[in-house]
Amino acid sequence: MELLKVRGGNVLSGEIQVSGAKNSVLKLMAASVMCPGKYTITRVPGISDVYVMSDVLRELGAQVDFGDHTLSIDTTHADKYETPYELVKKMRASIAVLGPLLGRFGKAKVSMPGGCQIGERKLDLHFAALEHLGVEFEIEHGVVHANAPKGLHGGRVTLDFASVGATENFMMAAVLAKGTSVIDNAAREPEIVDLANFLNDMGAKISGAGSPVITIEGVEHKDLHSVDHETIGDRIEAGTLVVAGALCKGPVTVSGFKPEHLGLALQKISDMGLELDYHENGVTVKSDGKFKAIDVQTLPFPGFPTDLQAQLMVMASVADGNSIITENVFENRFMFAGELVRMGAEIRVDGHHALIQGVSGLSGAPVASTDLRGGASLVLAGLIADGETEVSGLKHIKRGYEHYSEKLQSLGADIELVKTDE
Ligand code: UD1
Repeated sequence: MELLKVRGGNVLSGEIQVSGAKNSVLKLMAASVMCPGKYTITRVPGISDVYVMSDVLRELGAQVDFGDHTLSIDTTHADKYETPYELVKKMRASIAVLGPLLGRFGKAKVSMPGGCQIGERKLDLHFAALEHLGVEFEIEHGVVHANAPKGLHGGRVTLDFASVGATENFMMAAVLAKGTSVIDNAAREPEIVDLANFLNDMGAKISGAGSPVITIEGVEHKDLHSVDHETIGDRIEAGTLVVAGALCKGPVTVSGFKPEHLGLALQKISDMGLELDYHENGVTVKSDGKFKAIDVQTLPFPGFPTDLQAQLMVMASVADGNSIITENVFENRFMFAGELVRMGAEIRVDGHHALIQGVSGLSGAPVASTDLRGGASLVLAGLIADGETEVSGLKHIKRGYEHYSEKLQSLGADIELVKTDE
């Protein structure tokens, strides 16, 4: 088993570059099955979710090579349309191939992802949206059989909730539908804009990505071609490193991402009483390690991202006064709070609210990552805790953070990767 041993108390300073965005690259990879050809995607993080998506594409018959942050994908012979449970259960984002497969073949078989620790995470919005394009669904033995018997046609959908995954699947399927499609109440995340840019470069006709209404004019297979593309910077990794800099005083410059992709998140973090300087390609954070309490709720973009909720909770746990964090996106995303309490935080979770009573300091303890962002946040807590914190469950962190401990080390953190026999 691997553990991260974190000894708290060091000041972090210096400059750090973020990697390419996990939530973008996974969808770009999925989109490559829409049109046979050779794709090059650069600025790709070496994280396990990328390896799982590579296996999904291989399962569909594609050839995938990864090296030096570059993915070479050849979908020329990708002629299968089935994604097995072994892969989908490892990573829910595997279902991003549903829309592209429907576009390419008019049918797809994708295993149901099942629940995961941060919530039930259903697919009902994906199905309801795709039905407007003429897709019929049947679920048998845990496998979704999707078919468009008369081919895909344009359709209009208003999403009940601005789901990132449902917006992406609908947008990708609609590219090859006959006629015009519209998504109302679409998710507006920057990763959706990156995907729309990728698809438009391929020959798709998408407008409005990044706004609540996305319009897709269907094109024909012959209008599409393969492309080369650089992934956008990972705003969630950036936010995590900004919190690290804030907790450990800085100055830390986090670069390689667009600050406007973190608009409200950076504002909320700076409202807690620290200095933030904005640059074109990043921010510099500096603090005295003392924070004001906060009242924040997670919402789809441009709201405060659920993927930064746990990191903010670490700051709130040592803030002056009582904070309230309301989680509106995933129902079980406070599991990590229990681990933070083991480090001396005072947190009471009541449904989708967490009440955090700031304490004067945290104390190091053995803690277990409960999910990707929770795991990364436990490391952040260890950076300010008294003594040593041992974070286990590193597989969660490796899903989405490339060289996480090395990056923090390069800023001055005292972190060691330890292998144990257990
Ligand atoms: C994506 C991101 C994830 C981020 C989330 C919200 C990727 C790979 N993951 O996840 O990091 O935290 O957006 O910003 O991009 N829901 C339904 N039915 C559906 C679809 C979703 O009930 O058919 C619910 C989910 O259970 C969840 C909420 O809607 O409670 C948000 O889900 P969604 O926006 O779809 O997130 P993902 O695309 O899964």
